[in-house]
Amino acid sequence: FMLAEFITAMPKAELHVHLEGTIEVADMFRYAQRNAVNLPWGTEDELRAAYTYKNLGDFLALFWQGCRVLTTREDFYDLTLAYLQRAHAQGVVYAEMSYAPQNFLPRGITVDHQIGGISDAIAYAREDLGTDAEILVIVQRHRSEAEGLELLDLIRPHRDSVLGISLGGPETNNPPAKFARLYARARDEGYRLTAHAGEEAPATYIAEAINKCKVERIDHGYTAFQDPLLVTRLVDEGIPLTMCPLSNQRLQISDDLSTYPLAHYLQAGVSVSVNSDDPSYFGGYVNENFEALVTHLGIGKAELLQLVRNSFTGSFASSSQIGAGL
Ligand code: ADE
Ligand code: ZN
Repeated sequence: FMLAEFITAMPKAELHVHLEGTIEVADMFRYAQRNAVNLPWGTEDELRAAYTYKNLGDFLALFWQGCRVLTTREDFYDLTLAYLQRAHAQGVVYAEMSYAPQNFLPRGITVDHQIGGISDAIAYAREDLGTDAEILVIVQRHRSEAEGLELLDLIRPHRDSVLGISLGGPETNNPPAKFARLYARARDEGYRLTAHAGEEAPATYIAEAINKCKVERIDHGYTAFQDPLLVTRLVDEGIPLTMCPLSNQRLQISDDLSTYPLAHYLQAGVSVSVNSDDPSYFGGYVNENFEALVTHLGIGKAELLQLVRNSFTGSFASSSQIGAGL
C-alpha cells in the first residue's frame, strides 16, 4: 500500500476509541478464561464470524457480550496497555480513550478498579513508550439521566484522572437533550464535553448536542451533511468531528466509502479527524482507517496532514502534552 509508510510516520492523535472496543479476539478468550466467564463462542474463528453487523444496535449487543470478560483491575490495566502499544506502533503520540463504567458497575466492579487500572497503564505508557493518553468517561444514553448523574457522583473522587465526558450507546430515541442537566453539571465540575451524535440519527441530534448540552466536539457527526447550515456552523464555531470510517462502513451507516462525507467536511473547513472507534470489532486501528480513505476517497498527502493537524487541534489536550505533535 503506497502511502502506508507515510501514514505510519505521521505523529498523530486519536480522539475517538472505546477501550472496550480494543479487545483482540485472542485476548477475549484469555480474559474469559482467567475470570471464569462463559462465552457463547467456542473458538476464535467462531467469534470472528460473529463480527458482521446489520446496524449499531446489532453491534452493541455483541460489544456488551465482550465487556463481560473484563473484571479485575489487572484486566483494565492489560487492555489499556495493549491498546497503547498498538497505537504507539502506528505513530499515535496522544490518545483520548473513552470507556463506559456503566458496562461494569452492575457486576460490582468498582470505578476504583476500572480507573485505577487504566490510569496505571497510562502512566507506564507515558514513561515506557512516550505515548500520552487521557480518559473520557461515556454515559450510556439508553439508561436514565438519573443513573448518569449517579455515575458523575461515583467518578468525582477520580476527577483528576478523567478529562471529559461523552455520551454513547444506542442513539435513536435517546437524543442528547435527555442529558442536558447531566452535561450542565459535568461542565460545572470542569469536564471537557463531547457526545456521540449523528452516527445513525439525523443531523438534528448534532445541533441538539451543541445547543442543549453545550458540547465542544462531536463524536461521528456523519449525518451533518443533511443540514448545510449546520456544517457552516461547525466551521464558524470550530466544533470538531471525530469520524470513524471503518466503523460507519461495518455498521452499514455508509454503504460506500467513495462518497464518505469526510471529504466534503474537510473541503468545507470542518476540523474533522480520523479515528478507529472499536478497532478490534471493525477490522482496523487508526492507520487502517486512514488507508481506507486513501483507497476510497483518493485523498493525498496534503489532506492526510490536515487530518492529523485536526487530531491535535481538536483534542482536549494541553499544549504541553501535545507540544511534540504540533
Ligand atoms: N460504544 C462503543 N462503540 C459505539 C458506537 N460506535 N456508537 C455508540 N456507542 C458506542
Ligand atoms: Zn464511538
